[in-house]
Amino acid sequence: MPFRPQFLLPALLLLLPGCFSNNRHQGEKLYVQHCASCHGDQGQGLARLIPPLAGADYLVDHRDELACLLRNGQNEVIVVNGVGYHNIMPGNKGLSPAQLTNLLNYIESHWGNEGAPRTISDVQAQIDKCH
Ligand code: HEC
Repeated sequence: MPFRPQFLLPALLLLLPGCFSNNRHQGEKLYVQHCASCHGDQGQGLARLIPPLAGADYLVDHRDELACLLRNGQNEVIVVNGVGYHNIMPGNKGLSPAQLTNLLNYIESHWGNEGAPRTISDVQAQIDKCH
């Protein structure tokens, strides 16, 4: 097949956004990939089965435990916005501290949440203390 330069530019334009995707986008992508199926695309949760992330007091009250929760999962009775939940949240051992940081920054800055941004070293320090 002859070289067709007119196809090169569209191809580059398609590929470029991938190279320049920023961390915020990584957090959103990871959320869609690993979390949205349960917590919903707006962090709304699902009835009494899955707690919400949108406007969840749990995110504020347990801020320092969230990195471990995301990494190791959880299966105990928890109360979110006054409602009790007890179900299995799977762990995400494959996610790096940088990925966990972007993920937490995404959920803590969307759907009405206003958590302060985290750094990778904060998240790493929390992970070092997971039990
Ligand atoms: C299989 C369904 C499922 C998936 C996938 C899942 N979760 Fe959960 N999540 C739960 C359940 C169920 C709980 C409550 C756990 C308990 O009862 O101990 C929970 C609890 C939480 C909590 C604390 C409670 C709250 O609502 O604030 C956070 C934060 C959270 N999940 C974030 C995430 C993030 C981020 C991801 C993606 C990495 C994720 N979850 C993936 C089901 C899920």
